Amino acid sequence: MSSVLIDDNNCLLIQSDDLSKFLLHPQWLRERLSEPDYVDTNNKQRLYEPSLLNQDLKIIEYSLEGNNLNIHFSDGAKGTFSLQNLLAEIRKVDIIPLKTPWKNNFTKLPIFDHEKLSNQKNLIKMLENFQQLGFVIISNISKAEGTVTKFAESLGPVRTTNFGKHFDVVSKPDPNDLAYTSLGLTAHTDNPYRKPIPGIQILHCIANEAKGGDSCLVDGFAIAEHLRETDKEAFEILTQTDVLFKFTDKDILLENYGKLIELDDFGNYVQSRFSGRLDFVTYLEPKKLEKFYSARRKIFNLYASKEFEINFRLEGGMLMMFDNLRILHGRTEYDVSTGFRHLQGCYIDHDSTEGKLRLLKSIKFNE
Ligand SMILES: [Fe+2]
Repeated sequence: MSSVLIDDNNCLLIQSDDLSKFLLHPQWLRERLSEPDYVDTNNKQRLYEPSLLNQDLKIIEYSLEGNNLNIHFSDGAKGTFSLQNLLAEIRKVDIIPLKTPWKNNFTKLPIFDHEKLSNQKNLIKMLENFQQLGFVIISNISKAEGTVTKFAESLGPVRTTNFGKHFDVVSKPDPNDLAYTSLGLTAHTDNPYRKPIPGIQILHCIANEAKGGDSCLVDGFAIAEHLRETDKEAFEILTQTDVLFKFTDKDILLENYGKLIELDDFGNYVQSRFSGRLDFVTYLEPKKLEKFYSARRKIFNLYASKEFEINFRLEGGMLMMFDNLRILHGRTEYDVSTGFRHLQGCYIDHDSTEGKLRLLKSIKFNE
């Protein structure tokens, strides 16, 4: 059973069920009061400026009744905290599931029936899978044009780009991007030339009646980890070398620099970038360049390998949603003379899927 007491510095000492102990500063607690005197009931935002709270604030009374921690502060403020929620916050327990790296060894792809997503439990499951795997496939959705933006907007706002609110992936004359041809596209991330790069791509299949035109996905973070374990030198070059990505058409010239594998200060994966059609490694001495080219070839071969890349076919009435900062996508060549192929795509932000999942899970958690 958890217990609380006050130490000599007027901090609250919590001893949790597993006997771990945490000292809580009075102001840290005071800033978390959630009663209507302190936060707006609609938006949960503070109604006062916490920087101006009395620096000598003290806890003058406290009691623990089950999970409810009641506290009375020296400035007259008082309220009740959920001990469970406080401990979850201290331990940084996140309701968003961790990313699970994957290879081409699925026994079952994460395919969700669109009709069943009106059930919140199924929607949560779909969004959780998306967080873990970085992609999901949706089946049994309308084949109508515009479905992609409708589906996207059920999660959050669409990111409009110079391709428009959505883009039509069909073979057309004089395209401003090779996506709009019938050529095969090796695994790539979209739009690494943008600032910021679109977080999530949704591709809806209206028709896929042509011979060819199968889809592939590959987990950039799983391959980065594989490289880190098996070829340190290649991993270091790809995490340290800047590459310029460019897009141009008659209306605009977009440029952005980035690493093919981007890490944060702690070595965690932030982003995979790969687009052999539009990358220009920055100037380096030839010896360093040779190492970069060799590392890039290595990661390209891994992205295309049977060990990592999954292949499947999107038929009319299906869509796939993938994390464009982690998952690479591609397609096989198709033959326009054998049938019609039409996909529509659009982009949304990470905030949409993550924010929706946080909301749905916090509602469930507080029920
Ligand atoms: Fe693409």
